[in-house]
Amino acid sequence: MSVRVRPSLFHPLSEPLLSRLLHSTASAERSQAQREAFDAAVMGIYGRFPLTLTRGKGVWVWDDRGRRYLDCVAGVAVCTLGHSSRALEDALTAQLGRLQHISNFYYAPEQGELARWICQHSCCDRVFFCNSGAEANEAAIKLARKHGHLVRGIVEPVILSARASFHGRTLAAVTATGQPRYHEGFEPMVRGFDYFDYNDIEALRHCLERHEARGPKVAAILLEPLQGEGGIHPGDPAFFADLRRLCDEHRILLILDEIQVGVGRSGRLWGYEHLGIEPDAITLAKGLGGGIPIGALAVKAHCDHFVAGDHGSTFGGNPLACRAGLTVTRELEQRHLLEHVRLVGAQLRRELEELVISFPALCEEVRGWGLIQGLALKSDGPSSLAVVQAAMACGLLLAPAGATVVRFLPPLVIRRREIREAVARLRQALGSL
Ligand SMILES: Cc1ncc(COP(=O)(O)O)c(C=O)c1O
Repeated sequence: MSVRVRPSLFHPLSEPLLSRLLHSTASAERSQAQREAFDAAVMGIYGRFPLTLTRGKGVWVWDDRGRRYLDCVAGVAVCTLGHSSRALEDALTAQLGRLQHISNFYYAPEQGELARWICQHSCCDRVFFCNSGAEANEAAIKLARKHGHLVRGIVEPVILSARASFHGRTLAAVTATGQPRYHEGFEPMVRGFDYFDYNDIEALRHCLERHEARGPKVAAILLEPLQGEGGIHPGDPAFFADLRRLCDEHRILLILDEIQVGVGRSGRLWGYEHLGIEPDAITLAKGLGGGIPIGALAVKAHCDHFVAGDHGSTFGGNPLACRAGLTVTRELEQRHLLEHVRLVGAQLRRELEELVISFPALCEEVRGWGLIQGLALKSDGPSSLAVVQAAMACGLLLAPAGATVVRFLPPLVIRRREIREAVARLRQALGSL
């Protein structure tokens, strides 16, 4: 440690101040050293903020220097019930004492129970469990190809997805992701994908006609109900109504990636409920486990094409992860969290719109559903990253969604006064820019 403060320069009364200063400099240096050791051992895949988080409670997290932050990222839409949820702690502790993992050679009652809950509360009939969003989309992509072969007699099926979408980082999921920057350096991408502009039915029709000019070619259309990473763009019900009709006419699967908006974040259980249609399949992850990794593909009976041996996952649907899912779903119901999300989501929306009025040179508009809200910034002003950094300095954690959108994804249990506090901190941050 090298602190260059000479005590003799200070009046005796300022000793507590000096000691605090010394302590804070020492802890800053310790944090920095720990981060350097981390970076030396962990692959540099992520652009991390220089912030080390060590504990959390509800919507609050604390860093390794004891500073508190209001967390409106929630592990990127994961911590549905907030941090250190008592319900999860009790349920998972009991589950750990009973059974954690058994593989899919055997029946796990928790897996069956969670699958039943998803089916009873969605338009789907059967569920496959995995561990992440990308894996859920991989399963959906394999299912789509099998559908193409079986139902449409296609030899080389194509899957259509939207530009500016995000579906994960495994090779097929990242190919489905309609953003070239995620493909660069990893070519060749997986064959059999093409892209059209989100919410643009004419663009979709052209794309479809191009592929189907000489007979069936398209197996599925994979879309987010609201584009999250792409900048918080909600789906347009009119587009989705036309899309549903097109898919029905051609027996093309409509698969919705509910990984970010599903499980209550939008104020409805599923994003598709905002769009007035039912998909043939949905993919889930993030908020379903409240922080314990879990992913799922849920399908309608007519496209339940997988048979034994077609797909699998060692960890998928293990008792611990499914207990987490069952706890999240039980809490959603018992605590009436959907109504709560609609209420506080509307408040967040209103208060962010007031910010847009207060900072017309910086802010453009607010977009989103429930507790997934994006503050779109002016393209000639500070970037989303600059706003996120300024917010962090004011004790508020936010996530960028592209270069010009700042995302709010707080735990679904966030209270009215915490929403007010979050927006007040963002106001202070915008004022500092
Ligand atoms: C809509 C959507 N799909 C898929 C994924 C990938 O999920 P995971 O990171 O769990 O693989 C994400 C992650 O941000 C997402 O937002």
